[in-house]
Amino acid sequence: EVYSASVTAPVNIATLKYWGKRDTKLNLPTNSSISVTLDQAHLRTLTTVSTGPQYLASKLYLNGHEETLNKPRLVAVLMTLKELRKEVEAKDPTLPKFSDWNLLIVSENNFPTAAGLASSAAGLAAFVTAIAKLYQLPQSFSEISKIARQGSGSACRSLFGGFVAWEMGELADGSDSKAVEVAPKSHWPDIKAAILVVSADKKDTSSTSGMQITVNTSDLFQYRIKEVVPKRFVDMKDAILKKDFNAFADMTIKDSNSFHAVCLDSTPPIFYMNDTSKSIIKLVNLINDQSIANGEGLIAAYTYDAGPNAVIYYEAKNEVKILSTLYKYFGELPGWEALDDALLAGVKS
Ligand code: DP6
Repeated sequence: EVYSASVTAPVNIATLKYWGKRDTKLNLPTNSSISVTLDQAHLRTLTTVSTGPQYLASKLYLNGHEETLNKPRLVAVLMTLKELRKEVEAKDPTLPKFSDWNLLIVSENNFPTAAGLASSAAGLAAFVTAIAKLYQLPQSFSEISKIARQGSGSACRSLFGGFVAWEMGELADGSDSKAVEVAPKSHWPDIKAAILVVSADKKDTSSTSGMQITVNTSDLFQYRIKEVVPKRFVDMKDAILKKDFNAFADMTIKDSNSFHAVCLDSTPPIFYMNDTSKSIIKLVNLINDQSIANGEGLIAAYTYDAGPNAVIYYEAKNEVKILSTLYKYFGELPGWEALDDALLAGVKS
């Protein structure tokens, strides 16, 4: 007797960055964030989970290798999901007692893991939604996003497609710290993303430890979370709703710079971008200088997470201009990859 469920979860790339926790156990952030969900054809995690009374232990496989489930965050996530399954079983005693059984979780990424490509976001989102599906949990996507958040903060945003906000919330128990949809992909379908894989190596400082170094040591960080991000959170949602690419790009670029600035302001300083990353920034600036001179405003926005790889957002009508320029200079990069269709629906499967 085996029961199973499969889901895919997409990667999301923040345009307003989550960096800093006010509660490291519940993964509650020091600021709200915004992201764009990428096309699952290119970047996604596929997770299949199964359960049965004959499974002697719970096991997790990631890209064919066994990984431990014995990490505090995974333990917490599994416990929460089992509690919710118990509620389902209590309501309908004819259902099989999944909450008593072990799980086999098999997960695969179609992109390099831990290379600053937000693999933890898709991974944890798939982990949680696969089990929620198997358990037939009645909770909404925003409710499930709170469980994913406990696994990895940015994962909560991968529960939705299109443009997504993670509202930081205020409550100590985290019950108001959840992901919500700002707008579906269909609202602004001609936004695209190109990913320039500068390096597929694992990053030096994990986001989890890096952000707490910043929280504990950076003065600039206080200014970022108090003065800069609250206003930007409102303005960026507004730019998305108005489909104002110039404003969206301006804030996306500024927020990437602000995030890397607070990393540099930390002790010891944290560097995620390398010389190639910086050259890409210069080139995007040149592209934008030209489009501003032509009266078009900004046409390309770069953003970098906790790694050297660039994500460039642009509108479809400018694709040839932007990609041909980037390709001319960076086409020889080992993992150059341009995505055809960046945005996609959420994890519903
Ligand atoms: C720079 O979500 O990976 O990508 O909550 O500790 O798992 P944990 O951190 P994680 O941090 C992501 C940081 C970021 C910005 C972002 O995605 O908003």
